[in-house]
Amino acid sequence: MLKITNLSKSFNLDTENEINIFHNFNIEIEENKCTTIIGPNGCGKSTLLNIISGNIRADSGQIVLNNVDISQLREEERAIYMGRVYQNPSMGVCPSLTILENMALADKKGEKFSLRPLFKKDRIPKYMELLKDLDLGLENKLNTKVKYLSGGQRQSLSLVMAAMKHPKLLLLDEHTAALDPKTSQLIMEKTRKLIKKYKITTIMISHNMKDTVEYSDRIIMLDQGEIVLDKSSRSLSELELRNIYSEKIVA
Ligand SMILES: Nc1ncnc2c1ncn2[C@@H]1O[C@H](COP(=O)(O)OP(=O)(O)O)[C@@H](O)[C@H]1O
Ligand SMILES: [Mg+2]
Repeated sequence: MLKITNLSKSFNLDTENEINIFHNFNIEIEENKCTTIIGPNGCGKSTLLNIISGNIRADSGQIVLNNVDISQLREEERAIYMGRVYQNPSMGVCPSLTILENMALADKKGEKFSLRPLFKKDRIPKYMELLKDLDLGLENKLNTKVKYLSGGQRQSLSLVMAAMKHPKLLLLDEHTAALDPKTSQLIMEKTRKLIKKYKITTIMISHNMKDTVEYSDRIIMLDQGEIVLDKSSRSLSELELRNIYSEKIVA
């Protein structure tokens, strides 16, 4: 379980651009569930994921993951526990490296820097098995540079790489937003399959109400750093969620 207590975060403190985004914010995220965070631009969704991953330091507050206080750990130290997929399909992969090299890099996560060869031959069957699961034929393109893959293929690869070491937490920041509707659907299906198979606790950010209702267990609506709705997705239809959104979020 992820437990965030008394989190506060401001940007540009004591300047005219001061933004107090979180003030004594609390949330608990259950294990093995997919929790989706929705809310208008600038309400703090990405900042929250950045604070969890350690990319941004909170001003105060505590983050405990499975009974381990990770608040003071650096981003690289937290990376052992977390996988992350970004909106931009190029962010979670190295476009100039091959699929095999990308998989090997993901496989090395958490290991100390070493001069050993990037990939071990005996790991290749494992990589092929993981890629085969995606059903995109990527297992037959191990030596293709990732920059030649489509956005959907890259995002699928990002997902597999993020989940490869079975992280305790998977953070998805609008990971389908840059894709066309059909590819976006495909990635959502692959996401579901992956998090079910490896039982990964997931926090997803989405602007897509249909996906939010369909793919998550719990829906959290944020507005200006505050939780304005916290509900099981089973109790909501897409239409109900849209209605609540337009009621609660004043444009
Ligand atoms: N590194 C940063 N420096 C200054 N301001 C930031 C930074 N990151 C986010 N913000 C500000 O914090 C607010 C929340 O941003 P963000 O979490 O990215 O929103 P969103 O909900 O759209 O993901 C915005 O006003 C944004 O401009
Ligand atoms: Mg964002």
